[in-house]
Amino acid sequence: MTISRVLSALALGLMINTSFAGEFKPLPGQTSVKVCADAHNLPYSNDKLEGFDNKIAAIIGEELGIPVEYYWFPQRIGFGRNTIKKVDETTGKFLCDVAMSIPAERGMYSPTSAYFKSIDALVYRTGEGYEINEISDIAKLKEQGKKLRIGLFDRAVATEQLIKDGVDDQVEYYQMMTGDARINSGRIISEELASGKVDVAFAWGPIAAFYANQSDVAMKVVPLNELGSDFIFSFGMGVRHQDKAWKNLLNKILEKRKDDIAAVVAQYNMPSLANVKQVTKQKRAVYTVIDGNKVDDKTYVGWRLFNSTCFVCHGKHATGTDLAPNLLKSLEGMSARKFRKKVLSKYFAKVNLDDPDRRLAFLEQISEEAAKGFKMPTWDNDPNIRPHIGDLYAYLKARSDGALSEVRPERLEK
Ligand code: HEC
Repeated sequence: MTISRVLSALALGLMINTSFAGEFKPLPGQTSVKVCADAHNLPYSNDKLEGFDNKIAAIIGEELGIPVEYYWFPQRIGFGRNTIKKVDETTGKFLCDVAMSIPAERGMYSPTSAYFKSIDALVYRTGEGYEINEISDIAKLKEQGKKLRIGLFDRAVATEQLIKDGVDDQVEYYQMMTGDARINSGRIISEELASGKVDVAFAWGPIAAFYANQSDVAMKVVPLNELGSDFIFSFGMGVRHQDKAWKNLLNKILEKRKDDIAAVVAQYNMPSLANVKQVTKQKRAVYTVIDGNKVDDKTYVGWRLFNSTCFVCHGKHATGTDLAPNLLKSLEGMSARKFRKKVLSKYFAKVNLDDPDRRLAFLEQISEEAAKGFKMPTWDNDPNIRPHIGDLYAYLKARSDGALSEVRPERLEK
């Protein structure tokens, strides 16, 4: 940086400090908060700025003392590629710098801390002589001769249970993405349920609550807390991976204004997460490492297998190569279940496809990876890998946690 640029950066900082007396300053050269958002996607955002993400973006702008600008694009496949990752040819700058309501997991975006979480819900019209408090009530009503028509998006999380309960013949399946960007998944409630085409609809919590509350028809929203804590998903803002200072700044603002942000989200009647069944954590230790190199059977088998198969791409010590990522990083915070699914079925299963945002992020990730042309093999049918997935996890987790360094492990005496 030249002296004059340092000086002007200082001057800019000073100016903003004195005129707004805020705690936070925009990044050098930042004159607005450029948000990538969908113009027709309530309760998240719309071009009348009625969504909770619009209001939260306004809080960010307020803290930084700069205006909020939007770059609109429909929230569907290609959203990230056409917004936050795209450079405006005339200005040479990115079209926008923050996407809202992004899954709070590293993927296509680098996520800030989460500012809301939710779970799927069911919605039904009240005043028709029955109550539904959980999914199985639909089967009970069927036994009593009341066959409710069920509106469901293809592959919603409730599907499995409905099939198990023997009510799948009552299901009407809907496509998640329609051709028209102005129609979002709330229509299953605002149209199909309200008009009586179906009697009970399943949808992602925020969508369910918003469209049920907006309807002229009396409806009740029942969060599917029975599914358990594994089905709660958290959302934050997403920035480009390289924009670390921007992410830190956003995180600080999210922390400072968390009560205001919670109050904004609360206005949108998010279904209550009270009484969510806690999924019991595995009690057995994932791995055992003693003296830095003596390991239990699982970890040992995992190491051996890793070094016969996975090392080719992920490197001898799992630290990555230009072919494949550093798994020590990937394993940070990755549950055994998620690992299993990633390795066996390559990201496909754990996605809550009933939730438009996760679905989108997932599809984007898949399409980005497909574009790169090189993929992690799917190990589902490999007889050497499948039974040992827990062992691989044990080894990699021990490496990732730092319990096992780059040493040749020995098997612990029994
Ligand atoms: C042919 C190369 C190759 C081999 C062999 C390979 N991987 Fe991968 N792996 C990749 C690539 C590339 C990615 C990242 C992109 C993708 O998933 O397509 C990846 C991703 C992963 C991820 C997800 C990482 C993340 O951050 O989400 C895990 C976990 C993983 N591999 C584990 C394994 C294990 C365990 C083995 C051995 C059974 C293995 N891999 C063998 C290429 C490979």
